[in-house]
Amino acid sequence: MTSAEDILAELRSLRAADLPTHGGRTLAYVYDSGLAGVDELAASAHALASSANGLDPTAFPSLLRMENDLVAAAADLLGGSAETVGSVTSGGTESCLLSVLAARDARPEITSPNVVLPTTAHAAFHKAAHFFGVRPISVPVDPTTFRADPAAMAAAIDESTVLVVASAPSYAHGVVDPIPEIAAAAAARGVRMHVDACIGGWVLPYFVKLGADVPPFDFGVEGVTSLSVDLHKYAYCPKGVSVLLHASAELRRSQYFASADWPGYTMLNTTLQSTRSGGPLAAAWAVLKHIGEDGYLKLASDTRDAVREIRAGIETIDGLRILGDPDSTLLAMTSTGDFDLFTVADEMRERGWYTQPQFAHQSSPMNLHLTITAANRGNEKEFLADLTASAEAARAAGPVVVDPNVAAFVAALNPDELTGEQFAGLLAAAGMGGDTGLPTRMAEINALLAEAPAPLRERLLLEFLGALYTR
Ligand SMILES: Cc1ncc(COP(=O)(O)O)c(C=O)c1O
Repeated sequence: MTSAEDILAELRSLRAADLPTHGGRTLAYVYDSGLAGVDELAASAHALASSANGLDPTAFPSLLRMENDLVAAAADLLGGSAETVGSVTSGGTESCLLSVLAARDARPEITSPNVVLPTTAHAAFHKAAHFFGVRPISVPVDPTTFRADPAAMAAAIDESTVLVVASAPSYAHGVVDPIPEIAAAAAARGVRMHVDACIGGWVLPYFVKLGADVPPFDFGVEGVTSLSVDLHKYAYCPKGVSVLLHASAELRRSQYFASADWPGYTMLNTTLQSTRSGGPLAAAWAVLKHIGEDGYLKLASDTRDAVREIRAGIETIDGLRILGDPDSTLLAMTSTGDFDLFTVADEMRERGWYTQPQFAHQSSPMNLHLTITAANRGNEKEFLADLTASAEAARAAGPVVVDPNVAAFVAALNPDELTGEQFAGLLAAAGMGGDTGLPTRMAEINALLAEAPAPLRERLLLEFLGALYTR
């Protein structure tokens, strides 16, 4: 048997190649409270409950208790009433999927259902539409504010619409959509309205308590029928926990699934999962209790200060500007100058920061995304100094030139007919063939991908994923 010590040493060495999850240097994917002891508490709580199975709440009443506690805490924070109910899911995508599923299944008489959503809604809704045979009707947002256009959304609702979606805030630009107008339009047509507050739901209410002018977005808004909030984001819980709230048990009913049509136990599921680990749930329950109201208020205050300082600093860097007027903790910065943004991301990476490239989409130019958390309080100056230096380095490096042969090769590709050989050829041409590992500088690859139309980019990146997940 290999010793536990050796195995953990191996795991530690594998983890050393990852982006850091603490310290505020990874500005996407991870959320760091910066508080000592939170990780240890979460890990202990996780270990205490990870073998318990949420599949049967009567067998594991501890999980039932903790889930009801989390749902109650989310409902209290987000303007819910005594009628508000919900479920704990594995993450934002599962919550969004279930909001669409519940809406579809509540209207079985509609033969070809659709969901009306702004173009800035999270891709999880396109996944839901794809999985559940619901047509996505994407409505363009205001080209400069990037907020959903309520009149256009209202006009897009028809008799087959089962759900209207808006974000609080959107991931790409961090702006809150005009939820009251959109919810009113949905309610007027008798259609459900989901607020995707996956990323904002645990921080915006605290911004409000701190006196910030946040547009209304929660159950206090007439017409909102469901809302998702991820505890593994700004509640700073370990990954694997989101809450999907419904305004009433009646609205939640069609989310549940039962099957007695087999010889085993009657399968009763509240979410997409059946066996559900109690680990993430217990970890979240413990973290919420530990950090508490005062703790979250302080974390939100620190985050807000960090966002302000970083945003103001970016505005002063020659050639960079913030897209829209973000309401929350997410910033998207674009280049107005004579340098390549994706090179800036590479330069930042070399200086120990991860910023996330976002490709151009309709009126949104290519940009770098920043998810700012409490752990960024205190390192704003260092971040801004490195960003200034990175912009200068990108300027000095000159434009990214995509090899014209590779560009021509990509332009000729048909996403529906892409073969494994073509993809292998492309990887080799991009210098990623064989066992060379992942490149750390991505500007050229991103520039190439930026030129590919979205369907081809999807296809190329899926092939890439397949190439990564080999044995
Ligand atoms: C607004 C929004 N919705 C949904 C999601 C999906 O969440 P997850 O990655 O937990 O599935 C995210 C993730 O960032 C998000 O920002």
